[in-house]
Amino acid sequence: MIGADLLFTVLKHPAFHALTALLVVGFLTAVSLLKFYAYVTCGYFHEKAEMKGKTVIVTGATGGIGKETARELAKRGARVLIACRNAESGEKVKEEIVRSTKNEQIVVKKLDLSSLKSVREFAEDINRTEQRLDVLIHNAGTAENKFKKTEDGIEVTMATNHFGPFLLTHLLIDLLKRTESSRIVVVASELYRLASLNLNNLNPASSWCPPYWYYVSKYANICFTLELARRLEGSGVTANCLHPGMIDSGIWRNVPVPLSWGLQLIVKGFFKTPLQGCQTSVFLACSEEVKNVTGKYFMDCKEKGLSSGATDVSKAKKLWELSEKFVNLKNTDPKI
Ligand SMILES: NC(=O)c1ccc[n+]([C@@H]2O[C@H](COP(=O)([O-])OP(=O)(O)OC[C@H]3O[C@@H](n4cnc5c(N)ncnc54)[C@H](OP(=O)(O)O)[C@@H]3O)[C@@H](O)[C@H]2O)c1
Repeated sequence: MIGADLLFTVLKHPAFHALTALLVVGFLTAVSLLKFYAYVTCGYFHEKAEMKGKTVIVTGATGGIGKETARELAKRGARVLIACRNAESGEKVKEEIVRSTKNEQIVVKKLDLSSLKSVREFAEDINRTEQRLDVLIHNAGTAENKFKKTEDGIEVTMATNHFGPFLLTHLLIDLLKRTESSRIVVVASELYRLASLNLNNLNPASSWCPPYWYYVSKYANICFTLELARRLEGSGVTANCLHPGMIDSGIWRNVPVPLSWGLQLIVKGFFKTPLQGCQTSVFLACSEEVKNVTGKYFMDCKEKGLSSGATDVSKAKKLWELSEKFVNLKNTDPKI
């Protein structure tokens, strides 16, 4: 009874109300300052680069950064191919983009990057139906929190984020080469710095920490892009990769509770919006400034340095050769 009386007295005390108000105001001020920080440190792409007459593929454009990338390119007049695993979500996004940009040149195509068969079917469709491909944006990504293998026996995060895009690039390379000054843009992540790329274990048999493979896959994205740029030297196709910033998107959906509760506070309070997150992808897809730039890593629309491991040429070459085997590249497939 004494305890309850004491609690009641404290709750009624004006000093308690003042302290609560102070905490709420302090929290809201901190969140606003962090949002403001995120806003002023974001690199915006302001160039009025037109994309009329150009065809762009954006993988994973059903949400997050990919959807805003597709919208921004549609605004600039591009014919945008939304490559997604869920056609229904793709159609909804298409409607939304057509409505907001008045650009009717939006096409939905089925692509599940975790399936080599789906990647081949998608590429076959594109090669059959498209006359040109100006930009291929490897944006789709996943961070699985449970260890799973695909129908091809590959760990899901590695399959979706690295092996699928690796195969897709091969299967579309002739179309890209036939299109003047075409570009490949790979959405990697600064989180690659949390991993190492063990070439003896690109497809783990098991894992006590499945999210780790997200970092490894992003490391692979960077090595892949740099090696791709070396192999495409003189072909008229450029390849660059980027970190979009820390973005409030669906990529965090697999973080388990209770970790996700704290994370959601940080994500909502501190992270950038998907529109802010798409700026560097759009910059690399259409800026005149990077027309002839290849084999580089960007953040906030500016070139950034990489770790010595990520720029290791022999490691990238070996990753390439191993990846050819994992995706079962055939003699009849285009070689890069
Ligand atoms: N958010 C960040 O802070 C951050 C930071 C660094 C890098 N990135 C990178 O940014 C890229 C975009 O991610 P996001 O943040 O926008 O995440 P998101 O909101 O989860 O969007 C990911 C997109 O990828 C698609 N996708 C996932 N698995 C796929 C598969 N097997 N086949 C085809 N599409 C698939 C998703 O489609 P569904 O709608 O079907 O799920 C979705 O459209 C990723 O490469 C990610 O690694 C993000």
